[in-house]
Amino acid sequence: VIKEDQLTATVPDDVEFDLYDERFFFDPWPVYQKMRDETPLFYSEKHDFYAVSRWDDVHNVFHDPQTYSSARGGILEVIKMNIEMPSGVLIFEDPPSHSIHRKLVSRLFTPKRIKALEPQLREFCREVLDPLVGQGEFDVIRALSAHLPMRAICLLVGIPLEDQEFVRDAVDKALTTESGEAMTEDGLLFTGDVFMKFVEEREKNPTDDIISQLLTQDFTDEHGEVRKLTKDEVCTYITVISGAGNETTGRLIGWATKYWADYPDARRELREDFSLIPNAIEEIVRIEPPGQAVARYVTKDVEVHGTTIKKGDIMLAAMASANRDPRHFPDPDTYDIHRKDVAHMGFGAGIHFCLGNALARLEGQVAMEEMLKRFGDWEVDMDRAVLAKTSTVRGWKTLPVIPG
Ligand code: HEM
Repeated sequence: VIKEDQLTATVPDDVEFDLYDERFFFDPWPVYQKMRDETPLFYSEKHDFYAVSRWDDVHNVFHDPQTYSSARGGILEVIKMNIEMPSGVLIFEDPPSHSIHRKLVSRLFTPKRIKALEPQLREFCREVLDPLVGQGEFDVIRALSAHLPMRAICLLVGIPLEDQEFVRDAVDKALTTESGEAMTEDGLLFTGDVFMKFVEEREKNPTDDIISQLLTQDFTDEHGEVRKLTKDEVCTYITVISGAGNETTGRLIGWATKYWADYPDARRELREDFSLIPNAIEEIVRIEPPGQAVARYVTKDVEVHGTTIKKGDIMLAAMASANRDPRHFPDPDTYDIHRKDVAHMGFGAGIHFCLGNALARLEGQVAMEEMLKRFGDWEVDMDRAVLAKTSTVRGWKTLPVIPG
């Protein structure tokens, strides 16, 4: 756990791109800049991986899954664990199984389904934020970030309201890494037992919800067999979605709250015109993407910036750095809610492009709109703000908001 007052203005020379080093995590931006300019192909002696940081190079990695495979995991420590992935963990798969599983899970994320969640998400924000009006300071992470994303996932898959808190706690416990620690195998292999009770219930009493649909629809699997998904597979999908969509989206809300405090003119404009909010949220995912980098296993020798990377090596694609590459974005370190071509890689790119992007955007927009409606102005108390450091997601663990 890192306190903002521990942040230093300048990063010591020996700090390099290292997702397990708190000093890097405090302020990764000067390190990325140095990498982009001086070592566009970076090699980490300490952890034995390569990394690219410029927009074009990161883009290439995302778009060449034949060379840069996800099948051994998309996180550095997961690739190093060298474990057999359960089938259906689509974020850690290559085609053809990835394409089949992604198509199945995509059924959850149709624009119609996502849009249908909006009133319930708004209602939830109202319930949470209304009691805070006139109460003085509150922690936006505890109030909103810790609940809204899992609530959205539960609504999406049809977990009953009374069970949602319990599910959130179980998922958090299994998947959240502690300060400075890498993800553990236990967390990774968390098989979604917590969801089994709901899946079994739907098997007995199917409704028109998504769990029932996943259980009853036929599909052609990677062996060419036409069949239905097993209960375990359905649990795996829900677990993957929870793992990918919970902490990430929570951090997005924290960053938006922090930036809208730091940029009061932008906040005032947004308050006057809610139609500007979607672009302002997009710009948050560009400038502060909760995920810093993805990892890939290199399947064949490949030359990058004059160096041959060998089959079996690990390549990290630092999309957080790409999102601030001046070769691609003018004035990249400025938060500009009117930025025209904000298209970034905060949600990844290529075949693994974030399936939940529309849901994450909707949650960010609704949460921040409801914040603006109640608290036209606010500051954040950086003396007591705490940055959570996990190897996968960067953002605030505590962010006290002082309404103006
Ligand atoms: C601000 C919030 C979010 C961010 C920054 C984010 C970021 C990402 C990134 C970078 C990837 C690509 C990983 C890779 O290429 O290895 C990804 C994939 C994925 N995300 Fe998100 N995500 C967010 C929210 C969500 C939500 C809300 C959900 C679902 C409820 C979700 C579900 C997924 C899934 C299922 C994949 C795997 C897709 C595939 O492998 O084909 N994400 N996300």
